[in-house]
This record gives sequence, structure tokens and C-alpha cells, in this order.
Amino acid sequence: MIRKHVFKWVIVSVVMAGFVGCTGTPEKKTLSVEQKIDSLLTEMTLEEKVTMIHANASFTTGAVPRLGIPEWTMSDGPHGVRKEHGRGWVGSESPEYFATYLPVGVSLASTWNPELGYTFGQVLGEEARYRGKDVILGPGINILRTPLNGRNFEYMSEDPYLISKMVVGYIKGVQDQNVAACVKHYLANNQETDRNTVSVEMSERTLREIYLPGFAAAVKDGGVYTLMGAYNKFRGQYCTHHEYLINKVLKDELGFEGAVISDWGAVHNTLEALKFGTDVEMGTDLSQGDKKDYTKFFMGDTVISLVKSGTISESLINDKVRRILRVMYKTNVIGGEKRMEGSFNTPEHQAAALKIAEEAIVLLKNEGNLLPLNKSMLKNVAVIGANASRKQGGGGGSSQVNAKYEITPLQGIEKVLFENVEVTYAEGYEVTRNAKINTDKIKEAAEAAKNADASILVCGWVHGYTDLWNDNAYDAESVDKPNMFLPFGQDELINAVLKVNPNTIIVIMGGGPVDMTRWESKAKAIVFAGYPGMEGGTAIARVIFGDVNPSGKLTMTFPKRLEDSPAHAIGEYPGKDNVVYYNEGIMVGYRYFDTKKVEPQFPFGHGLSYTTFLYENLQLTKGDNQSVIATVTVRNTGSRPGAEVMQLYVKDVESSVERPDKELKGFQKVFLQPGESKDIILTLSVDAFRFFDEKKMEWVLEPGKFQVMAGSSSRDIRLTKEIEL
Ligand code: BGC
Repeated sequence: MIRKHVFKWVIVSVVMAGFVGCTGTPEKKTLSVEQKIDSLLTEMTLEEKVTMIHANASFTTGAVPRLGIPEWTMSDGPHGVRKEHGRGWVGSESPEYFATYLPVGVSLASTWNPELGYTFGQVLGEEARYRGKDVILGPGINILRTPLNGRNFEYMSEDPYLISKMVVGYIKGVQDQNVAACVKHYLANNQETDRNTVSVEMSERTLREIYLPGFAAAVKDGGVYTLMGAYNKFRGQYCTHHEYLINKVLKDELGFEGAVISDWGAVHNTLEALKFGTDVEMGTDLSQGDKKDYTKFFMGDTVISLVKSGTISESLINDKVRRILRVMYKTNVIGGEKRMEGSFNTPEHQAAALKIAEEAIVLLKNEGNLLPLNKSMLKNVAVIGANASRKQGGGGGSSQVNAKYEITPLQGIEKVLFENVEVTYAEGYEVTRNAKINTDKIKEAAEAAKNADASILVCGWVHGYTDLWNDNAYDAESVDKPNMFLPFGQDELINAVLKVNPNTIIVIMGGGPVDMTRWESKAKAIVFAGYPGMEGGTAIARVIFGDVNPSGKLTMTFPKRLEDSPAHAIGEYPGKDNVVYYNEGIMVGYRYFDTKKVEPQFPFGHGLSYTTFLYENLQLTKGDNQSVIATVTVRNTGSRPGAEVMQLYVKDVESSVERPDKELKGFQKVFLQPGESKDIILTLSVDAFRFFDEKKMEWVLEPGKFQVMAGSSSRDIRLTKEIEL
């Protein structure tokens, strides 16, 4: 059941008090939990403690049955509960485990609707609970630094503020179901190339302003119970056991009181893991399959010897076990409180998947209002492209979901059209290894497009399946894409189809941008669909035929060419000799494009509607503690109901350090009937105006003038006002 969540959020904030970074008098309930943990720790043997801090199967850690502590059970992943792995690695293909496949992270963020973050988390949490999981390994929130990252689809955005807002609801939605969320991958796992060896070098300011805020929001605002360390190194040390990132920043500064879980196989050294913050070592040695001896893990038997020989103090182990037990209490794994039962594949879950997909789809271009297509005028429709008939949920790596069902775009279109409309499908290209341009398929597709009243071409990336990974042309874990061009001869297909039918609608599926320079100027209507989940095909069709007015906005800049995007423009991807320097610093995504005046193909925050919105009356007034209250009126001036995401950007007019031309510091999605207007009131806290001063090692507000801009995208600023702080 999708329940109203407003009330529950209030309850959660009370229960959470004292759990993460909370000052003041601890709650009575929390105190008693800590006391219970004290007493459990005194009763536990060293061996029992150590069994809890490492895996004992592919997705569980050891139990202490004598004291009523069960195994701790985890599951991927960010957009659906993964197939059942049992104790080994080869998952079950039994349909009883086929789950709700939600839109991927990038799609969720494209809704720019934090309430849907909660809905998403709630579905995931309920399904995880039903399947007996204690921890769900999501959300993934790494910054989209390069369009090539194979895992961009799992993440959310190039912008830390947008991530910070979307991640909170997700976490609360999951955790309200007695399941711990696990925010990942901490930190700077922004490429899959060399992910196990590469060291990321970035300035402190870049860390604080770009790569850390999402995680900080997950901890402080979301109250996340667990966090996963990344595979890569940061400033020469592995992220999973990192003195600065974990001990200092995460646990001391942010006050994280939950458990740090390693990525699978990401622990490299026992002493470092013990001292530098890893609480649980997970992993599976595929070569040994189910026979792996988990006691030989870095955080296995060696730890017992090290404590017994006096090399390390048992208090280090106690702290790790305490953190795990704390999460177990919070999620009612132990403690005798009744646990939520969860639910699986309910009609409400499927409706949520559809709703999120509908709000996620981004209308990039709509020349001459070609869209929406008028169903009643159509007798035959050509649907073209392998992605139109391809199911995506099972791909992508660890985030794969065996979906209960998946409506492909072709099925969605057939479902939404009237029965007497003829649909002709032509594949157009083949998704195979080392695919060549298939001229026969292109001819067939052009023929279909030529003879149709309407032509819809669904192209893009695909979620890689294991046997396709080596092609590197996919959205998938462990590999990046070789370039930004569409694979499998799709550019040739698009050009051939547009030539015979210039009114063809181009729908792109994928985790991020594609190079469109070979055909963009010829296409009148372009839609970015992301990977919209099990109801994605329905959502795409409903947008195309106008049952839904699109309201998604890009969460990343679509560059014209790969070389235009910052990491590539400065040649800092994927690094050399296992080091990658983030020398673009804070100039990531639109911060770079807008400051350096590089023309994107489609800007950050862009997304069209079938109606039009007018922005009026931007007013700024000063609030408490250097905050600014911004008021804007948004009016629907068209003839259809629709939603607009009003975005507030801030610019420091004069600064002692280089600052971006604009930075997103507020947004709100408003639903408006034709003619209706709403006043949006947003408070920009002092944080919206500060930068991280590396000399002082603190956030600084430099007095002076600031511009506040209200816009429909980072490049479509409608109103600007200045204020002096
Ligand atoms: C991925 C994680 C995932 C884990 C467990 C790793 O390869 O990086 O995101 O949660 O596997 O499947």
C-alpha cells in the first residue's frame, strides 16, 4: 500500500533524534537502545563480534543465535529488489521473486519531485521487507562527472543540490518500512574504468562543494542508516577504509552513527579497515562460488588474532558491532518490536512506477508542436528501433531487476492507441556484439516510416547484459562507454528515417546524453526517456499521445560533443597511471558550460511542456540568519494542465575566488490548471550564498551583491533580482 507519508515523516524525525549528528538531550528511547547494546556487547565473545563484521554468504553477515541476533540480510539495488541470491552468487530465476522495476536513479531525479523520492523509497522498502531484507543497497548518488560513466543511470545528477533534495525522501521512504537504506558509493566513484585501482585527486573545495553534499544530506537530512564505501581510492587511500573521508568527515563531522559497509570486495587491508572506519566487509569470490571461506576475509579470523595478540584494541571491534546493532534496533531486526511485513508487486507499486515514469520523461525538442500526436487522426503508426521492443530491467550489473513485467515502448504504444490503428514495427538496428550497420534493417525501417501517418523511433543505449559488457557500448556496471555516439548504426538509421519522414519522433532511452550532432537539426521532436522502469512503455506512449503532459527536466547537461564536457575538455578522464585529477574543480556540468560559455545541446534543467508558463514578480526579502526569501509567481498560460519546475539559481556578483556563473539553490514543481497561477515561496538559507574557503577550511559568506535568478532551465532564466548580503 502506498500510504500518505506526511504524518510518518514526523514520527521518523522523533525516532531518529539522537541517531545521526543530533545535538541536545538524547531521546530516552535511544539511550535505552545504547544501554541494551552495551549489555549485548558484554555478553558477546570476540568470535561472535567478528562474525558480525564480515560476510558469511554473498549478501549476509554472521548471526549470533545465542543472543537472538540473526544474520543481517542485504540486497541490491537502487531501483528494485534484485533476484534472490540465496547464499551463493547465481541468483534464482524463479518468477516468485520477480519484483517491481522502478525507473532508474537518473529518471527518478528527472521528476524533480522530492515527494516521488519518498514514494519510490516506500515501494522499494515494502518490497525489500516482504522479501526478508534488512538493508537495501541504494540510493546511488555519485555525481555525473562524465557522460561516459557506465553507471550514470543508477545515479541522479551532475548537481549536488538536486541530489541532496531527491535523496532524502528516498531514504525515508525505505527506512519507514524497517529496512535500512545504504547510500553509495562514498566517494567519487565517478567512472567505472579502473574503478578498483584509480585514485581520485580533488581539491578540498571541490570535495565540499560538489562531491560531498549529497552524502551529507543523506546523513543529516535523510538519517540514512548505512553507507557503502567506494571501490576507488581518494588521495591515495582506498575509500572503503579512509581515515579522512570516513573517520574525520563522515563519522566525526557529519556525526554518522550507522554502519559503513564495504563495496563487494573493496576491503584491501585488515588494519586499515579496522582503524579507518569500515564496519562490515562484504564480497564474494566468484572463482570459489559458494565454497568461499568467509572467515579468511580481511575482517575475518585475522581480526581475532590481532586482538588476542594485543595489536589492536577490542574497542575498535565493539564500535563496529555497536553500529550494526544500532541499525538492527532502528529497523526492528532485534529488540522485539513488531516489524513491518512489507508487500510485493501490488497494484499500488505498479501505479507508483507509472507515476514516477510519467513525471520523469523529458521533452527535449518540439518544433511546430509536433507533439502530442492526435490519436484520433491516426490509421497507421510506424514504431522503429530495437529499444522499442527491448526489455531493459535485467541489465546494468548489480542493479539488475527481474521485473514482474516490463511494458516496452512498442507495447505501450499499442496499448494507448485505438484498436483499429495499425502498428508496423521495424527493428532498424541490432543489439549484438560488434554490431555493424544493418542496411537491410535500415531500409525496412525507412519503408515503414514512409508509409505511416506517424513514425516513432526509439533508440539510445541499452542496459548491458553480462555477455555484452565487453562491447563497452552500454549503460552497465564495471565498464564505461567508449564515446558518446549512439552504437549499432543508430545515427545512420535515424538519418535514413528522418529523410523519408521528417516528422519522426525520436525517443532516446539511456542513462545520459548521446551525441546528436549528426541528426539533431533535422529532428523536430526529441524525447529523453531514461530507463523508465516496468511501466516505462506506457509512460512514453502516454506522453507521445498527450494523455500526460511532460514535466521532467534534465538532471545533467547534454553536451553537443563529448569534448565539450569539462573532464574531457581538459583531458582529465580516465586518468593516467591510476590517478585521475579532477582539475576542473567545482566546474562540473552546467557550472562549467555556463561559466565558460560553452553551448550545450540541451542545458541542465531543460524540459518542455505541452503548455506554457509565465514567470512574474520575483521578490527577494531578507530572512533570519542571512537567509533570503524568494517569491515568484508562475502562471500556466496555455490550454492544458501541466507542471513546471521553477528553478532558483544564485550568482555571487563579485568574489575573491572563482565562482560559477550560476548554481542551483532551490526549486519547486508546481501543478497548474490552464490560467491558474501560484506563488512559490522558497527560503534560500545562508548556505545558498557561501563557498568553501580552503585557506580557512570553512564555509564563508563574502558580503556583497548576489543575483537570484528564477528560470525554467539553467539557460532559460526568466527573472533576475539582486540582493546585498
Ligand atoms: C557494486 C555495488 C553493489 C554490490 C553488490 C558491487 O559490484 O558496486 O553497487 O551493491 O556489487 O552487488
